[in-house]
Amino acid sequence: MTTHRIALIPGDGIGREVLPAARAVLDAVGARHGVRFGYDEFDWSCARYLDQGAMMPADGLDRVRGHDAILLGAVGEPGVPDHVSLWGLLIPLRRGFAQYVNLRPIRVFEGLDSPLRGAGTVDLVVVRENVEGEYSEIGGRLNRGFPTEMAVQEAVFTRAGVTRVLDYAFELAARRRGRLTSATKSNGIVHTLPFWDELVTEWAARYPDVGWDSEHIDALCAKMVLEPGRFDVIVGSNLFGDILSDLAAAVAGGIGIAPAANLNPEREFPSMFEPVHGSAPDIAGKGVANPIGAIWCAAMMLDHLGHPEAAAEVEGAIATLLAAGGPRTPDLGGTGTTVSFTRALLELVS
Ligand code: NAD
Ligand code: IPM
Ligand code: MN
Repeated sequence: MTTHRIALIPGDGIGREVLPAARAVLDAVGARHGVRFGYDEFDWSCARYLDQGAMMPADGLDRVRGHDAILLGAVGEPGVPDHVSLWGLLIPLRRGFAQYVNLRPIRVFEGLDSPLRGAGTVDLVVVRENVEGEYSEIGGRLNRGFPTEMAVQEAVFTRAGVTRVLDYAFELAARRRGRLTSATKSNGIVHTLPFWDELVTEWAARYPDVGWDSEHIDALCAKMVLEPGRFDVIVGSNLFGDILSDLAAAVAGGIGIAPAANLNPEREFPSMFEPVHGSAPDIAGKGVANPIGAIWCAAMMLDHLGHPEAAAEVEGAIATLLAAGGPRTPDLGGTGTTVSFTRALLELVS
């Protein structure tokens, strides 16, 4: 029997409600595939910050470095500034463990209506650059409180950082439907995104079997709404990938269903699996958070750990349950709860 050690970081808000669902599914499907999970749970969160002054301990990364993977719920709570909670936990993990690919698949499931008329088949993956780009600490605030007050924020795009994520995206497109779209804004941003475009053009020549195009982010958002079915792999910078993944998830039925894998493709460090959504303070504590994103994360983690059949079973069970009109949470138009959906899914995978 294979045993994997998983670091669980439930975090804040609905992160604490959806992570137990993912864990229960892992245990159930693992039992039938000869896979066991040992969990170490970490209370790293805004509650910890308010209590102890830090989202995680100073040696936090060392405490999870030896785990096979990290499963994270969500971070963020009203009362703690978002840049404090995210730069105190989520972003150091992504960067410290060189999780430079953020993989965000989305599809329209049968039985789950897209809010868009005629959305048809949507089956795409956003490959988001995850450790540089617009998310940077370089910059500053000047002249606070004066009429000349200003903020400056530098974006960082490096050849090595962009091309390694392009490699991942082109290779993924070659394994899927052979179609890649690059998100850009080189008509308005004069240094970084023209550089991004040059690198995409250079890298595309290495992948002659992948058809590709480049779209400005504004037009791309419109096309995502008007013809979402045309996309296969979309590669984008950190910020563009962030925005596109919520948009794509909403087009496919709701952001509660979308998973993310923060991957360190070299496997030098643990990869981290977390739903695309946040801590949803507006519904936290009500027991109605949609657990599909977190459960799909569990499937992505199974795949990453070398159990593709178990992963496919979990994804298949989500599809079966939705197609059968089983329980669903209010964000999907149902009256179900986190627990009722999870119970129904456990019956399919146990
Ligand atoms: P959010 O994703 O938390 O919520 C946006 C909307 O979607 C809300 O109306 C919420 O109720 C709904 N929603 C989200 N997930 C849902 C689910 N599983 N089931 C049903 N409805 C769901 O985004 P936000 O409001 O911008 O952010 C709230 C907090 O979460 C902030 O502090 C933000 O910084 C943080 N955040 C954290 C992460 C993360 O830890 N990975 C990701 C995004 C946002
Ligand atoms: C996500 C989130 C985070 C991001 C925030 C909370 C920093 O929106 O994982 O999509 O932008 O990366
Ligand atoms: Mn986001």
